Amino acid sequence: PVKIYSSSKDGSKYVAGEIAALIREKQQKGEKCVLGLATGSTPISMYAELVRMHREEGLSFANVISFNLDEYYPIEKDAFQSYWSFMHRHLFDHVDIDPKNIHIPSGQWPKDEIKKYCAEYDQMIEEVGGIDLQILGIGKNGHIGFNEPGSSIHSKTRLVNLDNTTRMANAYEFQNISKVPRLAVTMGISVIMKARRILLMGWGMKGKIIALSVEADVTEQVPASILQQHDNCTFVIDEAASSELT
Ligand code: F6R
Repeated sequence: PVKIYSSSKDGSKYVAGEIAALIREKQQKGEKCVLGLATGSTPISMYAELVRMHREEGLSFANVISFNLDEYYPIEKDAFQSYWSFMHRHLFDHVDIDPKNIHIPSGQWPKDEIKKYCAEYDQMIEEVGGIDLQILGIGKNGHIGFNEPGSSIHSKTRLVNLDNTTRMANAYEFQNISKVPRLAVTMGISVIMKARRILLMGWGMKGKIIALSVEADVTEQVPASILQQHDNCTFVIDEAASSELT
């Protein structure tokens, strides 16, 4: 299903509210809450809303275990552009999550052992009982995480090549396109599909790819279209991003 909000701010508040409600529900049962988290421009105001709820409404992240979708490769964890830095800047530095419950693929895993580290990442997700709620953004080419067009529905966490369109779209974070890494580590499609619930956010100029993802046939050429096969996935979009829906 698709939920359309008049602004990305309202859509972000809805998603933050859903995350907070799940955290609190799990807290009351004395359970951990396992979140799958995304980076990029899309979730920034959603994270700001979570930080506000922590400060003003006592929302605690003490029972949260998080797994991020992806990271550039190679990149130093402390680089401004790393997704490790992004997550600390926008969320983790401002809430009471236990640092040992934070998981982000590393841009510094040794290349000859990367398969082992990726398999361990998927195994850690399994060991905590799977992802309760996965947050996604969407690339203009339909990528989710950094699963670019052509990624298999069976894919696991792995090292991938970034499409040039993705590198161009993300060049604003770097001094110039040549500085954007060519590789990334991403959670696989099959790992994302195992999450019990998925909320994908899309704002602004993403109308075309959102229409293709929700209304056209399922194809590995549009990775987000695979989400049609998930039984609890909602696209949360703003009016601009709804422009191409029929
Ligand atoms: C980032 C991620 C990517 C982004 C996508 C959209 O963790 O998973 O799939 O969600 O590239 O990026 P923005 O939000 O910058 O338009």
